[in-house]
Amino acid sequence: MSELMRPTFDVDLIKKYGGEGPRYTSYPTAPQFSDRFGERDYITVIGESNRLPIPADLSLYVHVPFCSNPCFYCGCNRVITRSKTAGDEFLANIERELELVSPHFDRDRVVRQLHLGGGTPTFLTLEQIERLLALLKQHFPFDPDAEMGLEIDPRSVEPRGVAGLRKLGFNRLSVGVQDLEPDVQQAVNRIHDTATVAAVIGAARAAEFDSISVDLIYGLPLQTTAGFSRTVEAIISLRPDRISLFNYAHLPHLFKAQQRIDEEQLPTPKTKLAIFRNTLERLMQAGYEFIGMDHFALPDDSLVKARQDGSLVRNFQGYSTHGGLDLVSFGPSAISQIHDSFAQNERKLDDWAIRLQEGHIPVARGLTRNTDDTLRATIIDRIMCSGQLNYGDMEKRFELNFGRYFKEELVRLAELADDGLIDWTGQGFAVNGRGLLFLRAIAKIFDAYLSANHTPKGRFSRIV
Ligand SMILES: C[S@@+](CC[C@H](N)C(=O)[O-])C[C@H]1O[C@@H](n2cnc3c(N)ncnc32)[C@H](O)[C@@H]1O
Ligand code: SF4
Repeated sequence: MSELMRPTFDVDLIKKYGGEGPRYTSYPTAPQFSDRFGERDYITVIGESNRLPIPADLSLYVHVPFCSNPCFYCGCNRVITRSKTAGDEFLANIERELELVSPHFDRDRVVRQLHLGGGTPTFLTLEQIERLLALLKQHFPFDPDAEMGLEIDPRSVEPRGVAGLRKLGFNRLSVGVQDLEPDVQQAVNRIHDTATVAAVIGAARAAEFDSISVDLIYGLPLQTTAGFSRTVEAIISLRPDRISLFNYAHLPHLFKAQQRIDEEQLPTPKTKLAIFRNTLERLMQAGYEFIGMDHFALPDDSLVKARQDGSLVRNFQGYSTHGGLDLVSFGPSAISQIHDSFAQNERKLDDWAIRLQEGHIPVARGLTRNTDDTLRATIIDRIMCSGQLNYGDMEKRFELNFGRYFKEELVRLAELADDGLIDWTGQGFAVNGRGLLFLRAIAKIFDAYLSANHTPKGRFSRIV
């Protein structure tokens, strides 16, 4: 198997191109969604998607918003609770949501993929997760080989529970680790030892999960190069199939829990870059391939194959091997994508629950892409997933003259080519090793909602 390209680490390029930018889990990005798009629009777009010549099969997402303790760095939409009834009340509302949404989909549209995210899906007991699965299967037909994944907080599940999840049919899991150093864990209020993580991963291996993934974050308070490399070594020795290495997004004006982080304790930009560089090099040495943005995977993982054969796609969970599916999402803040439309649920748990109890699909905002949006979304997806763009493909599909349509963008691309981030290919361009860390900065050029060279401050995380 041919190796994927390796990213080059260059401090000057990071200074110039490593600033803030959207993560492009969708285009247009969520800040563009409008509250003029509501329940009626959602029902209409589902109906239209049923009538397409080949209606897409489905990917389901359920946002389980609960966590028992607040991690101070957390930027996810979650509710901290120890309530024993929260899980059952949540399931009752999910059942209402399924009853309201599922009848609008034709019954021959099969679920090929399911993901439980959060919050912490394993806040629910195994019995509650079993019930959730039964509800989903009652309302949608499932492919027996569907990819079924969930996010796991190692503190909230026992090895026995991991085997139980496999028996329920889950075949992929992602384990939140972040950092294994005791002082860092203390500073972010998330404490678990390496043995707990090893036990969860060991149980997942024994239960024959198809893919095990680990989340790490660099840039957390009290992190040092030596400390983070101990974390990285411990994780490498557990050999997860995939590793996500997130750059800590510190946006305390948006995420209240982050106000409890002592900014004095954050690593300096220099230390942070050194941590990033060491981790990148060490993961490569250990045989991990760079997929794109923050994702690494072992060579025989399906993400690597998809990256090589061009079938990799991007969705709200990051990179995925399943393209061409409509995404139907449940739970507070969850975002659906049906063909060219996005619909996001009420963000707050109570608002979401009240809308459902009143008999409404709890869509709060959304958007239907116009042709320009779809064209730019296709280009951004190609950059983020394959690192290549062929102008001819876009001209054929969208009936336009690429050079005329993207006159300004091509001028900005030329600067990237001068800086050595991309190579012209004759029919378009390809991102090379120097550009690989800056996929978001390259994609950003085609974002019509960000004016040339300007990204609003404090809305998006740093690219590197
Ligand atoms: C929903 S959590 C994963 C599941 C579970 N709640 C847990 O923490 O183990 C999703 C992931 O987002 C990442 N994350 C959360 N807040 C972040 C932030 N401010 N910056 C970067 N990554 C963040 C963490 O790596 C976390 O594992
Ligand atoms: S990182 Fe995970 S466990 Fe921690 S608060 Fe966020 S969602 Fe909850």
